[in-house]
Amino acid sequence: MSTRVLTGIKPTGMPHIGNLLGMYRPALALAERSEGYFFVASYHALTTMRDPARLRASTIDVAANWLALGLDTDRSIIWAQHDVPEVTELGWILSCITSKSMMDKAHAFKDAVGKGREINVGLYTYPILMAADILAFDTHVVPVGKDQKQHVEMARDMAKRFNHLFGETLVVPQPKIQAEVATVPGLDGQKMSKSYDNTIEIFLPPKKLRKKIMGIVTDSKGVDEAKDPETCNVFGLYKLFADADQQAELAARYRAGGLGYGHAKQALFDVMNAQLELPRERYNYLQAHPDEVSDVLAEGAIKARATARATLDRVRSSVGL
Ligand code: ADP
Ligand code: TRP
Repeated sequence: MSTRVLTGIKPTGMPHIGNLLGMYRPALALAERSEGYFFVASYHALTTMRDPARLRASTIDVAANWLALGLDTDRSIIWAQHDVPEVTELGWILSCITSKSMMDKAHAFKDAVGKGREINVGLYTYPILMAADILAFDTHVVPVGKDQKQHVEMARDMAKRFNHLFGETLVVPQPKIQAEVATVPGLDGQKMSKSYDNTIEIFLPPKKLRKKIMGIVTDSKGVDEAKDPETCNVFGLYKLFADADQQAELAARYRAGGLGYGHAKQALFDVMNAQLELPRERYNYLQAHPDEVSDVLAEGAIKARATARATLDRVRSSVGL
């Protein structure tokens, strides 16, 4: 069997450059050499979303993001989580072999407690549903950003525990973290995240993209002063889009003095925009043709369900159902 790569993204808000480099790109690169299983994590979104129209629209939108960024439907599939009910069935079975103390340690829940947010049981058991997402499809590799590593490790633990209790049944997955872009910095230099309101969205029209980039926080050094590229938020992002020669050249200009931050930001806009142009065009097309996206999701769900059903038949038989 070929290596199966699976990842999911919640339909909450517009995807940003952190998602692009931390998740979409590595996942799509892996899928070029293996079988890609991608899904829209609509059930996970329900732990916080209360707006049906927005959930519906965002589900289509996330699928359009994947397709615009190059998901190849000949070798990979994409579906909406709620179209594969086998996942919630597996979630129940896994919840019966998972200790409460493991859930107490989960980041999603601890973060929400830290922020004083309402804790519903769905949020508390979030990692169990995520494990079911992964294990229902006999996944080998799960490309995620660093913040999701703990959840994937919990899925590994659940698979091992299940196999220990009931015999070899579930594939034990591996997380795959892109080390060099593990944390993409945002406009203010902190981790780029919707929660910090410091994001650069992938599909912004060029003018808005440029405006965002011009808003990146820098120190107040004048044009003539020599600058340190390694402590600059603009260069931090430039590195992630430019090739080695371009990076060396801009770094030298920083150190020499005579380069204003406005110029550095323009250089960042140029490299970023060049890479985002084609996906933006495809995205705009799909936005105007949502039925095409729905069709792709429906086809993906048929294939995903067949895989999940086979796993669930094994699981049911292993536990005695
Ligand atoms: P956000 O923090 O904006 O809410 P999500 O939690 O929706 O982002 O992240 C979706 C995926 O993108 C996850 O796999 C996550 O680890 C990755 N990701 C998000 N932000 C970054 C970042 N700044 N750098 C690298 N990867 C990121
Ligand atoms: N929890 C992930 C996030 O917040 C989304 C997700 C749900 C996921 N199920 C998954 C990611 C399974 C990888 C595998 O980003």
